[in-house]
Amino acid sequence: DVGTSYAVLVADTMSEDGLLPLMQNEKIEVVQGKPDEIDDLSRFSALLVRSATQVDAALLEQMPELKIVARAGVGIDNIDLHAATKHGVIVINAPDGNTISTTEHTFAMMMALFRNIPQAYTSLKNHEWNRKAFQGTELRGKTLGIVGLGRIGTELAKRAAAFQMNTVVFDPFLTAERAQKIGVKLLELEELLQTADVITVHTPLTKETQDLLGKENLAKTKPGVFILNCARGGIINEAALKEALDSGHVAGAALDVFEHEPADNYGLIDMPQVVATPHIAASTVEAQESVAVQVAEEVLQVLNGAPAAHS
Ligand code: MLT
Repeated sequence: DVGTSYAVLVADTMSEDGLLPLMQNEKIEVVQGKPDEIDDLSRFSALLVRSATQVDAALLEQMPELKIVARAGVGIDNIDLHAATKHGVIVINAPDGNTISTTEHTFAMMMALFRNIPQAYTSLKNHEWNRKAFQGTELRGKTLGIVGLGRIGTELAKRAAAFQMNTVVFDPFLTAERAQKIGVKLLELEELLQTADVITVHTPLTKETQDLLGKENLAKTKPGVFILNCARGGIINEAALKEALDSGHVAGAALDVFEHEPADNYGLIDMPQVVATPHIAASTVEAQESVAVQVAEEVLQVLNGAPAAHS
């Protein structure tokens, strides 16, 4: 039970079922809405977000009572950690609630790419019957290059094994022993770029990973490679990707995330060899409930004075 009363602002859409632990607590008032639509931000003790709300210094200035920012998801690149620390605000996330959903979406995107499913779908819905145009390739025997073998990368590797793919990995934090245990081959980035038939990135967006697949690195990939990004916009440079698709060096790309969201890079999105979804990899009933419960419980604990587990 929370001793005092607290106001909690839920700024992005999240699972109502997941938020029940907060909603049902009589000491807690849950308000849903965008920060710029709220008259008085100064009374909130907790702020819950997904990726849309930018938690920057300007917002934190307006929230002097704030104790905790909770990200219902993994990536905290929309939160200014430096400013949060300066204001003494705890930042937590839900690191594992959407792992499987994101993995499955990535796999779906890969299969869509290899078999031209969105293109064939559009064609038939336009009342064409064009079997010749949509010949694909098998996943079996292809080399999957995973950049970043965290929770999602690891789950992806398991599924790739079931599809009889060879998996190679670049991850500066992974040991060769662990790679062997998971059944993947650990390579340097350069080697991965040269050997993979399909490359998927699963890292956070940081200074080190920004533009990781830019002009130079894309040029090192195998001609005809497929590229996927279901992690974070900006890890793959969109202008460089567009160029590589235009030249035919990259055969196709599947993107769930974009440098700017809502995405408006239609030069890239409209290309027939680009499969695109609007940042929905984590949007499943299960994942959204799980991340919301995880952050709601942790917010309760912090408001109760307990230390946070995922900060
Ligand atoms: C995440 O970082 O967890 C994802 O981008 C999920 C999301 O916010 O939908």
